[in-house]
Amino acid sequence: MLGGGFIGRFYAESLQGQRSRDKVVAIYARREETAQKFAADYGCTFQSTDMEAVIAHPDVTLVCIALPNNLHAPAVALCAKHKKNVVCTKPLGRTAAEALTMMQQVEEAGIFGGYLEDLCYSPKFLKALETVKSGSLGRILWAKSRETHPGPHSDWFWDKEQAGGGCMLDLGCHCVEIARNFIGKDVRPVEVMCWAATQVKPIDAEDHAIALVKYENGAIGQFEVSWTFRGGMDLRDEVMGTEGTIWINNFLRTGFEMFTTGKAGDYVAEKAESDAGWLFPVGDEVNDLGYNHMFTDMFRAVEEGRDAAETFYDGYVVNAILDAAYKSAETKQWEPVNLPVWRGQEGLTQASGAVEYDADHYLIKEEMTHYGKKKLILKEKASGKIIEREV
Ligand SMILES: NC(=O)c1ccc[n+]([C@@H]2O[C@H](COP(=O)([O-])OP(=O)(O)OC[C@H]3O[C@@H](n4cnc5c(N)ncnc54)[C@H](O)[C@@H]3O)[C@@H](O)[C@H]2O)c1
Repeated sequence: MLGGGFIGRFYAESLQGQRSRDKVVAIYARREETAQKFAADYGCTFQSTDMEAVIAHPDVTLVCIALPNNLHAPAVALCAKHKKNVVCTKPLGRTAAEALTMMQQVEEAGIFGGYLEDLCYSPKFLKALETVKSGSLGRILWAKSRETHPGPHSDWFWDKEQAGGGCMLDLGCHCVEIARNFIGKDVRPVEVMCWAATQVKPIDAEDHAIALVKYENGAIGQFEVSWTFRGGMDLRDEVMGTEGTIWINNFLRTGFEMFTTGKAGDYVAEKAESDAGWLFPVGDEVNDLGYNHMFTDMFRAVEEGRDAAETFYDGYVVNAILDAAYKSAETKQWEPVNLPVWRGQEGLTQASGAVEYDADHYLIKEEMTHYGKKKLILKEKASGKIIEREV
């Protein structure tokens, strides 16, 4: 494990929290005391403040990168050098160029590269994706994802150079990949329109952003992200298709509501702003945020010699979409998504939505009236005229 902070510990809880056969054997942290505490808490046999020593350690078969964003690329380069399989937290890079280099290093070294996009492994997301893939929602037209909270927990996130951006890179990376999954990962993202602003915090990066991502088949992705939202962590997805709709609430208002005067001062959930009053705890955060299913897929993929559902290639595509979003926020124009490497479908066009009613008409809408008749709204093919008919 590289990094003994917030996400390193979450990952370790997932890896060793149940009766897992996987083991965190070595920990790298910047500070000796962090490495020592992590090693004691999770039973690591090797600890160091030297990153390369941990990667090269003979007991290490796979490296998990849980470091600040500016250290992902140097850590991946060392994994490639020592030919160690690697899984990396989000965002993969600070830019698509950085992510592309990381992807190429991994592919040239012939090592496994898994992208730790946990929110594409949450139980609700996995069920929703299965439903979408089975066709229950028809053709996907719109996928929206929202992640907002009151801001991150460590200094480096707030520094544009180390983090590579603000809330858009930090949280938008989740939202973009969620929408890509629902719309189809092989459908090319074409262009992005984005508004981003620094509304509250005294930082150089954005603390609030909203964007639209246009896909080649006519579908639209949308994300809403903020570091200035009050009330905890809001994680919601919406999918709209020609045959159905899905709404997912992953964190707040999940059906678990609790009131306390705050007597015990307990931990409630990630980014919860209060431990008193009406609260929204999360039953099993490690599982509900997707970490368990994510590591299961990653490690099975290594054993089976296949790609995981989320790869370095996916991380690179996400970075490319976010690069376009940053550009659009500046130019106030739709900006193209620049993908020098694209492995999906080419030349898709928007499918026609027209439903045939009979030889002369298209069906626009049918509805049961309160007076017991079915009303049809039809379009005459020849004249283009729109008519009503009751049956
Ligand atoms: N849901 C998620 O997938 C999720 C959630 C939170 C964070 N993350 C990602 O995990 C990575 C680490 O975030 P975190 O929340 O664990 O951060 P953190 O500040 O809590 O921990 C970072 C750790 O990295 C190590 N480190 C080494 N060099 C460092 C340096 N120069 N400055 C600071 N720390 C240094 C330290 O051990 C430190 O504890 C980031 O890329 C972040 O985007 C992912």
